[in-house]
Amino acid sequence: MLSILATAAAFPALRAVSAQTPKKEKTMQYTLTPLDYGRKALEPWIDAETVGYHHDKHQAAYVANLNAALDSEPSFKYDGDVCGLISDLESVPEKIRTAVRNNGGGVWNHEFYWKGLSPKKSEPSAALENAAKKSFGGVDGLKKLMSEASVKQFGSGWAWLIVNPDGSLKIASTPNQDNPLMGAYVGACGCIPILTIDVWEHAYYLKYKNLRAEYAKNIWNLVDWKRVSERYESAVDAKKPLV
Ligand SMILES: [Fe+2]
Repeated sequence: MLSILATAAAFPALRAVSAQTPKKEKTMQYTLTPLDYGRKALEPWIDAETVGYHHDKHQAAYVANLNAALDSEPSFKYDGDVCGLISDLESVPEKIRTAVRNNGGGVWNHEFYWKGLSPKKSEPSAALENAAKKSFGGVDGLKKLMSEASVKQFGSGWAWLIVNPDGSLKIASTPNQDNPLMGAYVGACGCIPILTIDVWEHAYYLKYKNLRAEYAKNIWNLVDWKRVSERYESAVDAKKPLV
């Protein structure tokens, strides 16, 4: 169940994503998307060993398991990206729906997570900064609430910065590999995510051990605000998520 720290309104974007998804023409084989930076690039905030295991082992396993789930149900032909797949779980045969939810979520969430980080410093756009000011009193308020959501998420899961139809921002969290794009499956409004923090232990335990709060504080040194701003613009203008 998605936990949203404020009331959320219905968002038409997910239906738009689903409607655009090509259906049942061929079977996709998903591949592990390479990182845009080296294993050491996120140090000292996230160490190279963690990045290596996280991407090359954990994320790779979600890709393999997603392909295995889809291969096990050859009657289901799917020709869409992972975003379209997890945004339209209703179309997935019940036999493999949970596997697709968990592993498709695992694939998309991780690609989105890595793309939201960068060793290069950047600043939020004026539009995003203004939205943060309206919703949280400023970017510092955004960081504080999202770090708190990261710490409060019980067990494994994700903290999210999401956009409502009116362009306002909210903080949310999901368990396991769920994300706001899954709509009704996670009890969500269908808001569009623009930033996430992976709070599975595999994301931080080698360096931070049990100190999730330290990880959720230090990760702000790595957030790619240029990318998050582009995602905000896409969510507001095109009503589409952008990895
Ligand atoms: Fe992860």
